[in-house]
This record gives sequence, C-alpha cells and structure tokens, in this order.
Amino acid sequence: MPLITVEGEEPFEAEAGKKLVLALEDAGIDILHRCGGQSRCTTCRIEVISGAVPAMQDDEKEALEDPEWIAKYRLSCQIRVENDLTIKIIKRSAAEGIAPGPRPED
Ligand code: FES
Repeated sequence: MPLITVEGEEPFEAEAGKKLVLALEDAGIDILHRCGGQSRCTTCRIEVISGAVPAMQDDEKEALEDPEWIAKYRLSCQIRVENDLTIKIIKRSAAEGIAPGPRPED
C-alpha cells in the first residue's frame, strides 16, 4: 500500500485508489474540506512535495483558477492515491475554526 507522509504527522499507509482527502481524514489527520469533494471550495488543497499524482483535470484547474495556485497546489479530493506521496496540508479545520463539510464520496 502507498505510504503517505504529511508534514508534521506520522506517515501512514493508504489504500491504493482511495481519494487522498478521505485517506487523510480516515487516518485521523485534520484537513479542511467544505464542498463534499466537488472541486469547488479549494479548502482541501495540498502541496505535493514528492511523489507522482494524476494529471490535473479541467474542473480542478477552474477551481484553483490562479495560475500560481495551479502551479503550486492540488485538490486532495481530486487525487486518487496510487503511490507513495509526501505532502503539505494548507488548511486544517482546527486552525481555521471551521468544521469540515460533507464527506466526499468514495
Ligand atoms: S475542492 Fe472542496 S473538498 Fe476538495
């Protein structure tokens, strides 16, 4: 199983093919997500430090909008884990004082 390393957290193994946002949440890692994984809110964005991720699709590009954000971030609700990854979480529920939205579909 792919090994996910998150800055500031213990590494954990994730089921291959699982959405990254769900893998993080199910590992007990705080990540904010607000739109149910619909590629709209961008609160679930992460920075990929190392590891390959699938190419960005148009709806993710439209959501991130700013070319600097497109170059720097990915939406964790749009990535299915396929291999080892090292990432940085940008927004956490506790730090933002905002409860997560509905759980994205599997
Ligand atoms: S863009 Fe809203 S949860 Fe990912």
